[in-house]
Amino acid sequence: MKFRLLPLTLLAVIGLAVAAEPNYPLDAPAPDGRRPGGTLTQEFTPPPLRDEENKDLRRERNYPEQPPTIPHTIRGYQVDTNGNRCLACHSRANSARTQAPMISITHFTDRDSQTLGTVAPRRYFCTQCHVVQHDVKPLVQNDFENIDELLYRETEQAEQ
Ligand code: HEC
Ligand code: HEC
Repeated sequence: MKFRLLPLTLLAVIGLAVAAEPNYPLDAPAPDGRRPGGTLTQEFTPPPLRDEENKDLRRERNYPEQPPTIPHTIRGYQVDTNGNRCLACHSRANSARTQAPMISITHFTDRDSQTLGTVAPRRYFCTQCHVVQHDVKPLVQNDFENIDELLYRETEQAEQ
């Protein structure tokens, strides 16, 4: 079947066409985002990676639905089709032995609102939502106020 190769051939032709004609200037200044200065193609020495915070103290959440941040290092913890290292401590069965907080009940509910007997597929890849922290200067400014601060300010203003 000769037509089987058609999509591949088309892809290759388009690819060549795109590669042959870069329509952006390679020395254009890069946007001053996370990587200030330089041009688009210039390579900088990246800053050294910081250690993950490992204080083992659960952090306050900014609102009740926030996925809590991870207060311990997860370096080398594997999460893939063969296994989930997080569940070795955080599953229902293991949390008593390890004293790790059990994944919450929401993690057992699948997308059809059925509560399953084990963690739902959509909650399997923990680091989609839970992240470790690093002791670094924030990259962008943030003036988030939590609900307590907001309510406090509102009552203060109302009383004046
Ligand atoms: C060796 C056991 C162990 C493993 C493996 C582990 N944890 Fe933990 N985790 C804990 C314990 C114990 C705590 C309680 C705080 C502490 O001691 O660090 C905790 C706390 C947490 C918290 C904070 C919960 C809260 O309510 O604030 C999150 C989130 C978390 N872990 C996510 C993860 C994720 C994601 C992974 C996998 C990448 C993982 N943990 C792997 C033991 C573990
Ligand atoms: C799609 C996002 C998402 C994924 C994926 C996810 N979580 Fe969560 N997790 C949350 C949110 C949101 C909360 C807080 C609200 C709640 O309890 O549902 C939470 C809460 C938690 C808590 C605190 C429970 C408590 O009662 O204090 C732990 C521990 C936790 N998750 C561990 C895990 C582990 C381990 C995995 C992977 C197996 C995982 N989560 C996957 C979003 C997620």
